[in-house]
Amino acid sequence: MPQAVELRVNGRVQTLAVDGRVPLLQVLRNDLGLNGPKYGCGLGECGACAVLIDGVAARSCSIPLDGVAGRAVTTLEGLGTAERLHPVQQAFIDTQAAQCGYCLNGMLMATVALLQRHPRPTDAQARTALQHHLCRCGTHLEILAAVQRAAD
Ligand code: FES
Repeated sequence: MPQAVELRVNGRVQTLAVDGRVPLLQVLRNDLGLNGPKYGCGLGECGACAVLIDGVAARSCSIPLDGVAGRAVTTLEGLGTAERLHPVQQAFIDTQAAQCGYCLNGMLMATVALLQRHPRPTDAQARTALQHHLCRCGTHLEILAAVQRAAD
């Protein structure tokens, strides 16, 4: 049953009349037009749908809207702009870390969260932070290089 839910997404506060049990990912993509987070598995396993919730990487396909009421949600669109990319976005471009690009939303959001906790992560810390983000193209080495480049 739809109810008024107050959302804070990318610094903007808005109230939506949506069933609070609906996954956050669905609301971001379908109601707010934020297509950075991708639908992959829908089961919390692939990482394609990652967002930051109060600065912590989380899987938006597995979090009901009620779970983020009053919390700060950041999507890929909230990191940088086309004119002024976030340093992590620029690092991924510089290292040519993308092939198909479908996993990149999750990789980027997880990297941003990692660098907030560990500005100079070890390779092991980077691998741990990204280990549950699936990339079928196999650009893992370039992605790990991008993490280190972003930390420089
Ligand atoms: Fe959310 Fe795969 S779509 S983890």
